[in-house]
Amino acid sequence: MIYLDSAATTMQKPASVATASAWAINHLASPGRGGHQPAMDAAERAFTCREAAARLFHVGDPERVVFTFNATHGLNIAIKTLARPGSRVVISGYEHNAVTRPLYAMDVRLRVARSPLFDQRAALESFRRELDQGSGLAVCTHVSNVFGFILPIEEIAALCRERGVPLIVDASQSAGCLPLDFEALGAAFAAMPGHKGLYGPQGTGLLLCGADPAPLMEGGTGSESKRQAMPGFLPDRLEAGTHNIAGIAGLLEGLRFLERRGVGPIAAGEGRLIRHMGEGLRAIPGAEAFLARDPAAQAGVLSFRLRGRDCEEVGELLGSRGIALRAGLHCAPLAHETAGTLETGTLRASVSAFNTRQEVDQFLQALQDL
Ligand code: ALA
Repeated sequence: MIYLDSAATTMQKPASVATASAWAINHLASPGRGGHQPAMDAAERAFTCREAAARLFHVGDPERVVFTFNATHGLNIAIKTLARPGSRVVISGYEHNAVTRPLYAMDVRLRVARSPLFDQRAALESFRRELDQGSGLAVCTHVSNVFGFILPIEEIAALCRERGVPLIVDASQSAGCLPLDFEALGAAFAAMPGHKGLYGPQGTGLLLCGADPAPLMEGGTGSESKRQAMPGFLPDRLEAGTHNIAGIAGLLEGLRFLERRGVGPIAAGEGRLIRHMGEGLRAIPGAEAFLARDPAAQAGVLSFRLRGRDCEEVGELLGSRGIALRAGLHCAPLAHETAGTLETGTLRASVSAFNTRQEVDQFLQALQDL
């Protein structure tokens, strides 16, 4: 199989991830739930994972790195902490349903900072215009899960800081794929999955907390057990119930892999593959590839369509030939609306550190054959 669906989940992981998760199932108990060795070992493993994430994303205090079950979980905590019904919230035109649905459910006054695909300057100006009209919150994806468009998150964060507007960063497609300096951004929160660019197992995620969060769930934490209110301190305030310690042990190995390889070299390699793929697609008659003119505006995700062909149907055909990619709306109708692809959807190929140029060539050949 040629796996080109890493924007959904990086199915190919460093071997150490599965080994560590499998080992954890029989050797680690629950962090904070006992003074015996397996519980202590679990606590140590969880803290080591927080430390590795804190190093990667420049979070001063590892206890402000909170485990979640996925990025959606983290985004819900962040949004429900900061958004107020009726308040004005600015988002980019490239947000996923993980951002728009919680906001919709909260009945906020949503303002979309619209901008053309791959135009970072326009994205920034659009945010500036919307923020200048007054806003209680901004939420912005770092990278579009549909098009790989890299939003100018550092500059958008600066606009928010200057205006005192809290910012939530959806780092679902950028964590582990692009450098991300949480401290420098000064964002209120950044949410990310553990199972995409961080190469951890599904069911893992991280929420980086710059602001003080409100719990989404209440329950046991192994701390302050006599009190009925949730602990005031992190990470316990947000981590009610038993941890996914097998997932966390795997995630730690994913983070160690990134530390060894370096996010910069991985980003450069993925960028090269996407250029090669986009240029190859453009040489196929009837193919329309959404490739940025400026390579610095696109991460390892590429959408395309074939004239006169249904995207879902082509996706299935490719699947039957051993090529895995995702077709349709990718849970991000707003991004498709912004790019003008809402009616057709797109086919989306996305790469990871494990893809090769040869695989991209085989994929292009399969498309040519179609
Ligand atoms: N949000 C993930 C994707 O883009 C699942 O496919």
